[in-house]
Amino acid sequence: MNKDVSKVLVTAEQITARCKELGAQIEKDYEGKKVVFVGLLKGSMPFMSELVKYIDIEGMELDYMKVSSYSGTKTSHNLKISLDLNRDIEGLDIVIVEDIVDTGFTLQSVTKLMKDKGANSVEICTLLNKEERREVDIHAKYVGFEVPDEFVIGFGLDFDEKYRQLPYVGVLKEECYK
Ligand code: IMP
Ligand code: MG
Repeated sequence: MNKDVSKVLVTAEQITARCKELGAQIEKDYEGKKVVFVGLLKGSMPFMSELVKYIDIEGMELDYMKVSSYSGTKTSHNLKISLDLNRDIEGLDIVIVEDIVDTGFTLQSVTKLMKDKGANSVEICTLLNKEERREVDIHAKYVGFEVPDEFVIGFGLDFDEKYRQLPYVGVLKEECYK
């Protein structure tokens, strides 16, 4: 285990097993549709890669956006888009793939953006959900794991750009950010 991790919350094996379940559910829900999976960089990168292994729909495509509303361990509420979708999404079904829903501000903004661009439907698939921290009314249809209100890292999640490479999700030791 990495020396800065106080405990492992979700193991690599649990992530794989849950991606298989979510993939099967999504495949069923979107069969016959033209669905675009939009991964939010950088955090969703490992989750997106694992998840789509278990989804095989003829009309599916993968795309990415890079947005941020976060720095260090504090959430600010402005959405900055540093990589936008380079395509028309009017009439398409969108599944936003994210690492974690915390306050919900990021996904509220991204969801609104896609609806404004004329998407037929917009759903959220998140690896982790911190329900206790929610500040806005946003619902993720597909959730990998519920996590407590602790700062978590690994499997895409970072603290100041570090720890994204860890194959599991763990709690960051307080001494590392205090
Ligand atoms: P929200 O807008 O507050 O929902 O924030 C979502 C973003 O905050 C996520 O995409 C993460 O990048 C970041 N974030 C929130 N909680 C954590 C955490 O515990 N560890 C790492 N990043 C986090
Ligand atoms: Mg993120």
